[in-house]
Amino acid sequence: MKVVSINEIYNNNITINTNIKMFGWIRNRRHSNSGISFIDIYDGSHINPIQVIIKKNIVNYSEVLKLTVGCSIVIEGKLIFSIKNQQKYEIYTYKIEILGWVDFPNNYPISSKKHTYENLRTVLHLRPRTNFIGTISRIRNHVFHAMHNFLYKNNYYWIPTPIITSLDSEGAGSMFHVSTLDMNNIPKNKHGIVDFKKDFFGKESFLTVSGQLTLESYACAMKKVYTFGPTFRAENSNTTRHLSEFWMLEIEQAFSTLEDISVLSEKIIKFIIKYILKNCDSDLNFLCNQCDKNIFERLEQFLSLKIVHIDYVDAINILSNAKVNFQSTVKFGMDFLSEHEKYLVDNYFHSAIIIKNYPKNLKAFYMRLNDDQKTVAAMDLLLPNIGEIIGGSQREERKEILESRLLELGLQKKSYEWYIDLRRYGSVPHSGFGLGFERLISYITGIKNVRDIMPFPRTVKNNFC
Ligand code: 4AD
Ligand code: MG
Repeated sequence: MKVVSINEIYNNNITINTNIKMFGWIRNRRHSNSGISFIDIYDGSHINPIQVIIKKNIVNYSEVLKLTVGCSIVIEGKLIFSIKNQQKYEIYTYKIEILGWVDFPNNYPISSKKHTYENLRTVLHLRPRTNFIGTISRIRNHVFHAMHNFLYKNNYYWIPTPIITSLDSEGAGSMFHVSTLDMNNIPKNKHGIVDFKKDFFGKESFLTVSGQLTLESYACAMKKVYTFGPTFRAENSNTTRHLSEFWMLEIEQAFSTLEDISVLSEKIIKFIIKYILKNCDSDLNFLCNQCDKNIFERLEQFLSLKIVHIDYVDAINILSNAKVNFQSTVKFGMDFLSEHEKYLVDNYFHSAIIIKNYPKNLKAFYMRLNDDQKTVAAMDLLLPNIGEIIGGSQREERKEILESRLLELGLQKKSYEWYIDLRRYGSVPHSGFGLGFERLISYITGIKNVRDIMPFPRTVKNNFC
C-alpha cells in the first residue's frame, strides 16, 4: 500500500478513493456520542493537518478513545473528499496502530492551545511539533534551496571552508577557542602564557567567524565561488538579531568591484523572495493569519522597489539634518546604531538601502582603501525592521596597502602570509559579501527574534543541549 505524506495529498498528487497508509502525530481529536472519532493528524510536511475518521467497529476502538494530543500513529484507509467544507480531504480509516503514547497528557508541553514564543523557547526540543516552528522550518528549507538554485544557475561553485581556524578573519577578536587542553591544568610557558604548542593543533585555534579569507583563495582561481556554513561570534550582544552561532552565505568573486557585488546582493535576495512567494503559499498564509497580516504586500513591495544605494557620508548628512533626537551625536566616523538604521530605512527612504564607502576605522583590514585614504569600499545592505542583513566589500588586492593596513591595525603579518600570497601571485580585483541566513528568514517571515528562527539558538548564557 502506498505510504503518503500530507503535502502529497494537498498538492493533489494522490488519486481520490485510493487506499493509503500514513504516519503522523495527533494534533486534535474529538469523539462523537454516536461512536465516530475525528482525529487531526500532522506529519510535518504541510501546515494543515488531515482529518482521519474512525468508526467504533474498528478492532482497537477502545484504544482510539484513549488517544491524546501528541500520540504517534500509523493508519490505513481510503482518501475521500470531505463532506464538510472546513477541509477538502479526509481519510476513512479501517486500521490504526498506536506507535507512541503520551505520558501524562495533561502535562504535555505542546498542548493544542496557542503558545507564546518565549514559552516555546523553554522547550526547544519539542517546539518543532508546533504549527509555527513547522512553518518556519519549511520556509527555511525553501530559502536554502532557492539560494543554492540561484548560485548553481549563475555558475558559482560551492566551496566548503574550514570551521576550525587559527585566524581572526574579521580582526574583531570575538572568537571562541577550540582546544583539547586540560582546563584544570593549562600548560604555560616560562612567561606564564598559555602554551598552545601543547594543544591539539600546536597553535591557538578558534571557531571561525567567517569563511571569507579562505574563500578568497578559491575565488582567485575559480572566479565565482560561495560557502554556506555555521559561523561563530563570541560577542556579548543580547539583541533580537544576534546569535553566537549563525549560518552565513558568503559569495566571493574575482574580477569584480563593489558595484558588482552590490547589484548581486539585490538580485539574490529578490530571487529568493520570489521563490518563497511562489512555493510557500500555505505557510505564508499561516503567518499572515497568525502574526503578520501584511506579509504578502510587504514581500511584493520589496520586489517592486529598487534598493537605494547611498554613500556613508550622505547617510551621515541625512541623519545630521533629521529632526530627530538620536541618543548619540551623529558625526563622520561613527558606526550606525539601530536608531540610525531605522530612521534611514523606515522613515527616510521607506525601502531597503545599501550604504557604501564606510570610514576605514569602522571596517575590517581586508577592505579596499578608497582614493580618499579615509574610506574603504565596503557595503552593508539594510532591510526594513531588521537592519543589516548583508556585509561585504571589494577586497584590498594591492599587496603593499594590505600590509600597511595589517600593520596599522596591529595584526600579526606572519599569520596572514598565505593571504598576502594571493596578492603576490597574479592578484586580481575581487569582492564578496556575507548574508546572515537567520536574519533573512526573520525578514521573510516577519518573526522579529532570530531565537525563534534558529532551531537550537546559542546566545550569551544559553546553550540548551
Ligand atoms: O558583516 P559581517 O560580520 O561580515 C563578514 O563576516 C564578512 N567576512 C562577510 C563577507 O564579506 N564574506 O557578517 C555578515 C552578515 C551580517 O550582515 C549579518 O546579516 C550576519 O552576517 N551576522 C549575524 N547574524 C546573526 N547573529 C550574529 N551575531 C551576526 N553577525 C553577523
Ligand atoms: Mg557587518
